[in-house]
Amino acid sequence: MSLPPNFLEELRLRTPLAALIGRSTKLTRAGRQWKGCCPFHGEKSPSFYVYDDHYHCFGCGAHGDAIAFVMQNQGATFPEAVERLAAEAGLEVPKATPQQARREAKARDLHGVLQAAAEAFQRRLRLPEGRPALDYLLRRGLSEETIRKFGLGWSGGGRGALAADLKGQGIEIRQLCEAGLMREGEGDQPPADLFFNRVMFPIRDRRGRIISFGGRILGDGQPKYVNGPETELFSKRRSLYGLDLAREAAFKGAPVVVAEGYMDVIALHQAGFGAAVAPLGTALTEDQLAELWRLTPEPLLCFDGDAAGMRAAARTAELALALLSPERRLGFVTLPKGDDPDTLIKGGGPRAFQAVLDAAQPLSGVLYDMVASRFPGATPESRAALRHALEEAAGKISDKFLAGEYRRALLDRFFASTRRPAPQPWTGGGRGERGGRGRTPIPAFTPPRPSIDPDQVRGEQARCLLAITAAHPWLLAEIEEALGQLDLPAGLPDRLRQCLLAWHAEAPALEAAALSDHLRKTEPEGWEWLRRFPRMLPAAVAPDALPKLVAEQWWYFFGRFRGEAALLAERQEAERDFAASGDPAAQTRLIRLNELLAAQRRGEIEEEAFGDAAGDPH
Ligand code: UTP
Ligand code: MN
Repeated sequence: MSLPPNFLEELRLRTPLAALIGRSTKLTRAGRQWKGCCPFHGEKSPSFYVYDDHYHCFGCGAHGDAIAFVMQNQGATFPEAVERLAAEAGLEVPKATPQQARREAKARDLHGVLQAAAEAFQRRLRLPEGRPALDYLLRRGLSEETIRKFGLGWSGGGRGALAADLKGQGIEIRQLCEAGLMREGEGDQPPADLFFNRVMFPIRDRRGRIISFGGRILGDGQPKYVNGPETELFSKRRSLYGLDLAREAAFKGAPVVVAEGYMDVIALHQAGFGAAVAPLGTALTEDQLAELWRLTPEPLLCFDGDAAGMRAAARTAELALALLSPERRLGFVTLPKGDDPDTLIKGGGPRAFQAVLDAAQPLSGVLYDMVASRFPGATPESRAALRHALEEAAGKISDKFLAGEYRRALLDRFFASTRRPAPQPWTGGGRGERGGRGRTPIPAFTPPRPSIDPDQVRGEQARCLLAITAAHPWLLAEIEEALGQLDLPAGLPDRLRQCLLAWHAEAPALEAAALSDHLRKTEPEGWEWLRRFPRMLPAAVAPDALPKLVAEQWWYFFGRFRGEAALLAERQEAERDFAASGDPAAQTRLIRLNELLAAQRRGEIEEEAFGDAAGDPH
């Protein structure tokens, strides 16, 4: 039976594995997965684990996906198992078209060609002509076992050598071209070898089938590496070198490490870091990130300890933001300057690499520094630009809850940084943090600096709060009471509030245009004040900001202004309202306040930054 691969993916997705297995085997929750006594061998204590997409028994080694389970458990053949699961999932098993069957046969064919080529390259490595290549690999510290495990070989000198090797197996030059091993000659030139005089690195897919090759020149010379072209089997953007071996190691708990190149992966593997992979000479792509997240919730990305490495890390972070979720995270590993994992291990052994892994930082910890490094100044303009960029970064995260948490964490660091001593450019220092390079952890607690005027900070907080309200008057229904009781600075802020509340009491409809007309006429000075330094205002002020963001940020500033005690009182009030009236507005208010309090409890909002500023006599 020949089935389109996406049908099987769909079938697996629609078959909750724990439920399927749970029908015949008692399972209990164990963290993210389930466990129970293995149905395939008699045991008293559970060593059988069920994950999202596969099961594994640490006792007898039984292992597989939903289809394999039905086959193993019910003695079904593959087509029978597929039929049964499809019927339960409400899917119809597609009949293979002759065209599909042909395409599959051809793919099988290409894998076979590549496999035969790999074997030919490995044979050549052991011939006298391959001796310099073998010596090169041994000199670089690879063991015989590693060379075999990665299937390394020697290309030979070109001029049709590979085609001659494979002719006896019925493999034609046309197939070698389709497999990306030779290219059509120009004009009336004959097809030519792509790889000659190179050490050959087979590139395998996640299931271990060879899909292409990379080839390294011996010693120095350009280009150092040649990679196979895009073919029906090989897409550079979708593949990761070492993925097949890494899957197994990751499964056994090895940290998933992303290095830059072929030799790094191999050296890491040999040093015991079996779940190392690398992209193929390009920056990580979305497809590769998705592949990594299938192995682990938090892959660790290695970057060079220089400016270019930092830029590459920032680009990857940027790409990843939209894809993040609580289960899809990233860790960043900074290598010592001038080292790659291969040289680091050569110099300091596995322990040296373990040490840099241990210092890995989660994305949430380095994102601030990544963004801030683009805005090094301390002028109001560059501070405003930084704040804008931080908001923008958080806004890229499509998981809304996570975006809210990132926004809070980033803004907290932004505000905390206003309380650091002002940089002194004339002493040649620039930003004080520069030496830290993305390693500076979020400061847990920075004592307030007397140099910052707390009144000014409170004034700015009030401005944010009022500007959000003025831009989205529908909020007034939800926040009227909280706004009324807020201890706003006397003068402009307080007058603006009176103005807003009075308008709310009278206005026939809560429209932003009507409100701004009203403010401009009745409180022109306040109106101007609200519109000053627009880039210092939060994203929620934008007319098209989503209501959830608007309310979230309003309560965020409210919390900053009042501190936890007021938030608690506010929540109690909302609880009472909701209990008494069942009013959905009271319910949303309750949910938001709970979220905010939870974030504050987790230490993501620094209480002292604003909350107590007014009462603080320093
Ligand atoms: P590196 O130059 O860091 O290679 O390039 P490396 O893997 O550490 O190799 P050694 O230690 O010098 O042998 C990183 C990756 O960039 C791609 C390859 O995938 C390489 O592994 N690359 C590099 C190319 O595709 N072409 C090149 O000419 C150089
Ligand atoms: Mn290297």
